[in-house]
Formats: sequence, structure tokens, C-alpha cells
Amino acid sequence: MLKVDNVSKVFKVGTFGGKKLTAVSEVSFEVHPGEVVSLIGESGSGKTTVGRMILRLTPVTSGSINFEGTDVEGLKGRKLRSYYEHVQGVFQDPFSSYNPIFKADRVFEMIRRAYLSDLSQSEWNKRLGEALEAVVLEPTDVLNKYPHQLSGGQLQRLLIARALMLDLRFLVADEIISMLDASTRIDVLNLLGELKERGLGVLFITHDLSLGNYISDKTLILRHGRVAELGATQKVFGNPRHPYTRALLASVPQLHRKWSTNAADLVAEMPEHDPGAVETLVQVDDDHFVAQEV
Ligand SMILES: Nc1ncnc2c1ncn2[C@@H]1O[C@H](COP(=O)(O)OP(=O)(O)O)[C@@H](O)[C@H]1O
Ligand SMILES: [Mg+2]
Repeated sequence: MLKVDNVSKVFKVGTFGGKKLTAVSEVSFEVHPGEVVSLIGESGSGKTTVGRMILRLTPVTSGSINFEGTDVEGLKGRKLRSYYEHVQGVFQDPFSSYNPIFKADRVFEMIRRAYLSDLSQSEWNKRLGEALEAVVLEPTDVLNKYPHQLSGGQLQRLLIARALMLDLRFLVADEIISMLDASTRIDVLNLLGELKERGLGVLFITHDLSLGNYISDKTLILRHGRVAELGATQKVFGNPRHPYTRALLASVPQLHRKWSTNAADLVAEMPEHDPGAVETLVQVDDDHFVAQEV
């Protein structure tokens, strides 16, 4: 469904753009229909940049992104519009997607005008009702309110509902539940689980390993823009092969385990990142790849 092939992103930074920052370096992975792939890494590791390139919000420096057989970078005009009917993104901070002077239903009016102007009023109402039901929101509780009158969880779920109004096939979910409280989190995770059952492909971006483990089929560990480890979630979490993945896993406080010097040592032993190192992904098992220096 989605194929990210050897994609890199170099930003020009500094006063006159004279310096270069490689945010993403030679990243490849695939997402199949009904599959949730989590993209895990510390802040600054390039997760959002990967999501933004898929959503065509940031141009790719090199490599290619393919969705259902079409090169995403080359999409223009009507084709790009149609891409957005199937591929949508929801981001960490729901407040930034709303204009504070308009009521929440405005975000729906915008997609109605852009994509769904052919629907009759009753068809529109029906679809809106279904989308809100999917995210467990009562229309009367939310649509007629200003963003400041709603919680972060309600705003986030409204944005997911907006994506569901379209013929959504792929969702880039960038830290979508990091801001929500525990009870709302599980609602959103369950919703993603249901959508996945219906064939939605999801790139689930998170810095939270336990969320990634809970929801995803495949896991990609990103470190300084590079793939450190990639594979079936069960394998990456059950038998982590990269020292960085091991250190990350050891740094998650566990519900049923007390702090131990063992875990602390693993984190302390985390190898320094060497930007000059040349790495290649080596297959260590079925559906399990680890970066190794060459
Ligand atoms: N528009 C931009 N211009 C310059 N540098 C950027 C831009 N966007 C992101 N970066 C840099 O790219 C790196 C990766 O950022 P990002 O993809 O946001 O990481 P993450 O989502 O994992 O926290 C960071 O060093 C960040 O400062
Ligand atoms: Mg980010």
C-alpha cells in the first residue's frame, strides 16, 4: 500500500541556509492494508519529517514514496487532491488545527467544500453522524462549541472523525494520543484497532514504546534519522537486537517491575551515535532487520 524507499531529507539551516542538517537518512519500509506500523524514536530522530514527507507537506530530498503504485512526489492538481481523499494526517497538538474564532464544526465544513460538495444535506448528516459515532463523540456536545470549550481529547477525536469522512485508506498518526489522558487514549487506540480491521493502513508515530507495542504489527526504530531496527513488533520487542533498541526498552518503567541497576546499566551502556558511521540493514530473522556498521 505504502512503500517508502531509501528516503532522505536534508534541511538547509543557519542564517543563509548555508548549513545542512540530515533529518532523515535512507529510510525504507512498507505498510500493507490493515497494518499498523509504529515509527518509534526519541524527539528529533526524524519521525515527524517522515510523516510530513508521506503527506507531501515536506518535499523529499532523495528516494521515493509510493502509494498504491503511484509516486507521491510527482502528484499534482486533481491527483494530489484525490491522494488526500485517501491519505490523511493527524498530529500531536490538536489545538493547532483549529482556528480559535470559529466553532469546531468549521473543520468539517472545510473538507465538505473541498471534497464532499456532491453530498446532499441528509447524506452529509448521515456520514457526519457515523464519523462522530466512530470516535465516540455526541454531535450536540462538540460541533457547536469553540475549541477552547473542548478538551484536547475531544479536539483530537474530531480531527480523526474528519479524516474518517473521506474514503480514508492510510492515516499518518503523529503522536496523536500523547496529549490525551489515559481513559481517552484507550478509546483512540481501540478505534485505530477497529479501523485497522477494516483495512486501514496506519503509520503510528510515537516516542512511547509501550503504545507502539500495544497497537502495531511492525515496528521501526529510528535513531538520528536512520533505521536502527525494523521488523515484526513481536520480534523487535521480544528479541531486540540493536543495542539502542535494548537501551530504549530498558528505559521504559514497567508496571510490574521495580527499578533495577540492570536496567539502568543498559541505558548507561547505550553506544554513542557516530554520524560518520556507515551502516547497513542486516536481516537477522524472518521479518527482522538490524542496522550494523560495515
Ligand atoms: N523545517 C525544518 N527546518 C529545519 N530543520 C528541521 C525542520 N523540521 C525538522 N527539522 C529538524 O529535523 C530533525 C528531525 O525533526 P523531527 O522530524 O521533527 O523529529 P521528531 O518528530 O522525531 O521529534 C530535528 O533535528 C529538527 O530540528
Ligand atoms: Mg515529532
